[in-house]
This record gives sequence, structure tokens and C-alpha cells, in this order.
Amino acid sequence: MISQEQNDLITRTGPGRPAGEVLRRYWMPAALSDELHGDRPVVPVTLLGERLVLFRDASGQPGLIARHCPHRGADLAFGRCEDGGLRCPFHGWLLDRTGRCLEQPGEPAGSGPARQIRTTSYPVVEKNGILFAYLGPGDPPGFPALDCFRAPATHVFAFKGLWECNWLQALEVGIDPAHASFLHRFLVDEDPGDSYGRQFRDTSAGSTLPMTRVLREYPCPEIRVEETDYGLRLTTLRHMEDGLTHVRVTNQIFPCAICIPMSREMTITQWHVPVDDETCYWYSLFTSFDKPVNRELMREQRLKEHRLPDYAPVRNRSNDYGFDPHEQATLTWTGMGLDINVHDQWAVEGMGPIQDRTREHLGRTDVGIIRYRRLLRTAIRFLAGESDASLPMVGGLDDIVGPACTDVIAPTGTWQDAALTADRERRAGCPWDAPV
Ligand code: FES
Ligand SMILES: [Fe+2]
Repeated sequence: MISQEQNDLITRTGPGRPAGEVLRRYWMPAALSDELHGDRPVVPVTLLGERLVLFRDASGQPGLIARHCPHRGADLAFGRCEDGGLRCPFHGWLLDRTGRCLEQPGEPAGSGPARQIRTTSYPVVEKNGILFAYLGPGDPPGFPALDCFRAPATHVFAFKGLWECNWLQALEVGIDPAHASFLHRFLVDEDPGDSYGRQFRDTSAGSTLPMTRVLREYPCPEIRVEETDYGLRLTTLRHMEDGLTHVRVTNQIFPCAICIPMSREMTITQWHVPVDDETCYWYSLFTSFDKPVNRELMREQRLKEHRLPDYAPVRNRSNDYGFDPHEQATLTWTGMGLDINVHDQWAVEGMGPIQDRTREHLGRTDVGIIRYRRLLRTAIRFLAGESDASLPMVGGLDDIVGPACTDVIAPTGTWQDAALTADRERRAGCPWDAPV
């Protein structure tokens, strides 16, 4: 457990808050490319507590500017997308994607040059289906050469979902490998042949056992955590019968992403991004190391569970996440359906808008969470000038590739080699350049 002051320090992300200043040093997902299609590519975005609007101008370039018009504050989410920018419906002021005011058509001639007015704007870069924004000071950093960015567009699918809780508890479920044996327990294994696009439904590499069975039958893992140049590597070992070990290598990518295996074919890189301190979005890039992603199927699977335009989950607190006691007795540990995202959503939303960490009792299996909070506090101290540590991934990006990310069953004596080999073999057969 930690003090209230420490909890505030690591959870609050509005402008000027220490953790918010750390997150602002990195590119943050702001919207899916899917949201900026159509005749009027304009979408309201709230990010790190800042109310903004994202649009594409006539040249197709994205711009992210303050939500309120610099004239008298009208809501630019209702703006007219025309004439090389976004025009406020109130008095017609025209703003370009860099925040410059190009026209004030109702003002008499000679009443002052429109171009002197500039509103807040942030750089935006589009990567494989996600528009990333940089809300920090100075020049933005580059992008690390992670698999999800290196892979061609044909091999990546992007999606998002809204969770009603603080970003940190959302991230912490992703660096807690022990919960998968309980929260995501299925009492009946499905045919791994039907696993496409779904987490934990494949077999582990080197085995015919469904991942769901391994997780269910070996619920007490050994978890090892190492610091890396991108964040943390978590190696989770489930020692099985007959001299075999299940090895799952997952990653925390600083500051607010994880990279985990989904199946033998795909990984998930997932950011947990604050909307404000009590709401966040997860953004995922599903990356295929084999065939092109079946985007239509992946989208259809996920749109069944989400409501547009805000990507809010259909199962949520207001309908008890679809909880069914009969299902809980016979099919799933939660009784909340087969989509593991709903299970995670229930776990993190049930903690309250911001988890009260003054009352938690961490165990040995929470080692990833403990190590991550240490990294975040170090980064906060660094920005406050009290530490000479450097922020992960802001400099030295060139060496960051991969990361290795596997789920394999191997003889206990050789699990380390087997985990590396499984990852290398997948990369060697990959149709795009996937070094690690
Ligand atoms: S408030 Fe936008 S133009 Fe007047
Ligand atoms: Fe989970």
C-alpha cells in the first residue's frame, strides 16, 4: 500500500501534474484512423484532461487543436471542415491544423490581421491505424522501431475501447500475469482451431494444449521481471507436470503500453491512455507475423462488443457487465461472457474511478506492478530535476526493436532457449523484417 500523496502523484495526469508531465514526453494515441474517415473528418478528443478537436484538412493532413474557439470559446467539434482548416460555426473564424487563425470573415476590413491569433495545437503522426499526438514541450521524440510500427499496414489491425477508470489501474492489469489463471479462466476449452482474433484461445508454441487449459491448471506462476531499454520484460513460468514449463514473455513499454502474445500468429501492443483522471481508452495494435490480418473479421468481432462513436463497451457497469450466475457456475470464472476485455474492464472499473492504493495489499505476484511504479516515480523525479536517470525511450531509440513476446511450452531444463527460439523462428518466417 502507498500513501494518498503517492497515489495522487502516480495517477493524476492533467497539465502540470507530475505523472502527466511524464506522459506528455511521449507520443500518445489520440484516435483511430477509422474515426477520421468520411465526408467530415472531425472528432472531439479529450486527452490527458485537455479538451481538443482532431480533424483532417483538405490536403489530408491531421491537426489537433484546442476544442474551444479562440474567439469566444464555441465548441469546434461542431466546426465546418472547409477551406483548408476548421471553421467555427459561431462567427466563421477559420483555423488551420497548426492552430493559426486564417480568416475572421465577420470583422471589418482593417480591424487587425487574423493571422496573429494562434490557438493551442499539437503535432500528430499516423501509424498503422492510430493517430498519435505529442502534448509535451519542445520537439517530440521519434518512434521506436517496435514490431507494431515496422509491420506493413496489411499486417496490423487497430482498435480501441473506453474504460471508466484511471489509466494506471488499467495499465496495471496488463503487467499482472497471475490474474489470467483466474479472471480469464474458462471451465471448458474451445477448439483452438476457432481461435482467430481472440486472446488465449490458441495453443502455446511447442504444444497441443489450449492456453486456457494451461492457465486453468497451473494457477500459481513464478514471475521474473527485468528492466530493459523500453521498460520491463516479464517472464512468467508455470511449472507443469512431466518436466515441462509454460513460459510467457510479456512487456511493459514505458510509459503506458504493454506488448503481449495473443496467439502464435499475433501480438497485441496496447496503450492505456488517460482521457481524464477517471476515464481512459485502451488502444491496441494487433500485429501478425504470418498472414495479413483479417481486418473485417477482427473489426466485426470487436464491434459486436462496442458502441460507436465513442467505442464504449456494450457490457458495462450499468448492466452488470452481462453477469450470469449460471454461466459463472458452468462456463467462465466471471460469468461475464467470453470476451476477456470485459473481464479486465470489470476488474479495473470495480476498483472505483481511481483505485485507493492506501488500502491495497500487494503480493509476490504483483512484482511487475511494483517495478513499474518504481520506474514511473524515477521518471517523475527526473523531470523534477532530482534524479540523473534518463527517461526510457526518449533518447537512444535506435536500438529498440521487437520486443520479444512469446507463449511456449518447453522442457523445464531448456525453457530459456526454447522461449528465444520460438520467438526467433516466428520472426525468421515473417514476411516483413522483424528483428529482435
Ligand atoms: S466563437 Fe468561434 S468564431 Fe466566434
Ligand atoms: Fe486480463
